[in-house]
Amino acid sequence: MIVREANVDDADGVSGVLTELLAAGKRSKASDPGFALNHYIADPDRILCSVAVDDDGTILGFQSLKHAREGNPYGTPVGWGIIGTHVRPTAARRGVGRALFAVSEAAARGAGIEKIEAFIGANNAQGLTYYEAMGFRTYREPEGVVAKMFVLSDERG
Ligand SMILES: CC(C)(COP(=O)(O)OP(=O)(O)OC[C@H]1O[C@@H](n2cnc3c(N)ncnc32)[C@H](O)[C@@H]1OP(=O)(O)O)[C@@H](O)C(=O)NCCC(=O)NCCS
Repeated sequence: MIVREANVDDADGVSGVLTELLAAGKRSKASDPGFALNHYIADPDRILCSVAVDDDGTILGFQSLKHAREGNPYGTPVGWGIIGTHVRPTAARRGVGRALFAVSEAAARGAGIEKIEAFIGANNAQGLTYYEAMGFRTYREPEGVVAKMFVLSDERG
């Protein structure tokens, strides 16, 4: 498996990840290639959208790291990063999420980001455990959601 920056040719593969999550009942939003392109791969606010690719070229998962801009839908403080992680259920618990975050963390550092926020459904035990394992900590809990924050301190890196 390698992790690299996503490009426009990955829209179908990223859509495939989202579609598999939808089928597994782990997602309720759009999953088509156009959404994958506009919302993740080519989002103008992106810092990095990275994909984890298996030896046979299959996209196993992806991670989106974006700048929190004024008026962002999450109410994330401007200047922070906003992260989202999606791994195919068939590729879960193989270290894909961990590999993706190593790359996103480096990208956040490179972009001068000091904090990253993740929004996880309050009933999404897998997602909550994953972000805790990556070093995120709960700091606010809007209705039905747990917002976890990762602090990029100098000591870390
Ligand atoms: C949450 C998610 C991103 C984890 O990705 P993953 O590739 O399976 O995670 P990894 O294999 O890299 O696991 C990293 C660590 O997270 C924790 N973790 C991940 N999945 C876990 C699970 N099902 N149960 C317990 N711990 C889990 C573990 O600490 C794990 O480390 P370990 O395997 O050394 O014990 C993936 O399951 C997913 O895409 N879920 C659906 C979408 C989602 O919920 N996204 C995040 C919230 S929006």
